[in-house]
Amino acid sequence: VYRIAVFASGEGSNFQALAEAANAGKLGGAEIALLVCDKPSAPVVGRAERLGIPAFLFKPKDYDSREAYEREIVEKLEAHGVDLVVLAGYMRLLTHVIVEKYAGRLINIHPSLLPAFPGKDAIGQALAYGVKVSGVTVHFVDEGMDTGPIIAQAAIPIASGETSESFAEAVHAVERELYPEVVSWFAQGRVKLEGRQVTVSNF
Ligand code: GAR
Repeated sequence: VYRIAVFASGEGSNFQALAEAANAGKLGGAEIALLVCDKPSAPVVGRAERLGIPAFLFKPKDYDSREAYEREIVEKLEAHGVDLVVLAGYMRLLTHVIVEKYAGRLINIHPSLLPAFPGKDAIGQALAYGVKVSGVTVHFVDEGMDTGPIIAQAAIPIASGETSESFAEAVHAVERELYPEVVSWFAQGRVKLEGRQVTVSNF
């Protein structure tokens, strides 16, 4: 089987959607092998328990450097035979330790149409700017902030009178569909990366 690790720091609605898709056989035959979480009190941890998915929980403060805890994460990924690392609301930049080891097998979801509004609070940034369309991006991860090659995007109109709460809800609804679909492409071996160009084959 194709084995996936999900990294999350918070609510975990994307983690839940991926796990449910896997259980429903809608993840291209992939399974969620591991949750990696840097906030042991986050709601996503309870979701993993209820779903019976093993978790590696850690506190960055317990380590001397980002590289130090990432080396431990890599050990766990290897122990679980992880093929693809999926960031889902993991609110930390990664170093070369993970980025180089999982090059081409490391993806993130971001709540804007990149390269617009990278970084924190992308939804708040989009509303403050006044754009009329924003959306969701799934991309490969490099060492920059939301700068890696783009795999898939979905646009979402911003209605007049939209609040960050109502728009966040629309974003989450799109993410719940888009992320499992993209992960299934990987499990089926359909994603090719050449330079910044990503192609997804049909078969
Ligand atoms: C998601 O909307 C994701 O796009 C965003 O955090 C949310 C996590 O929700 N990620 C980022 O902003 C990354 N810069 P979840 O914990 O319910 O899946």
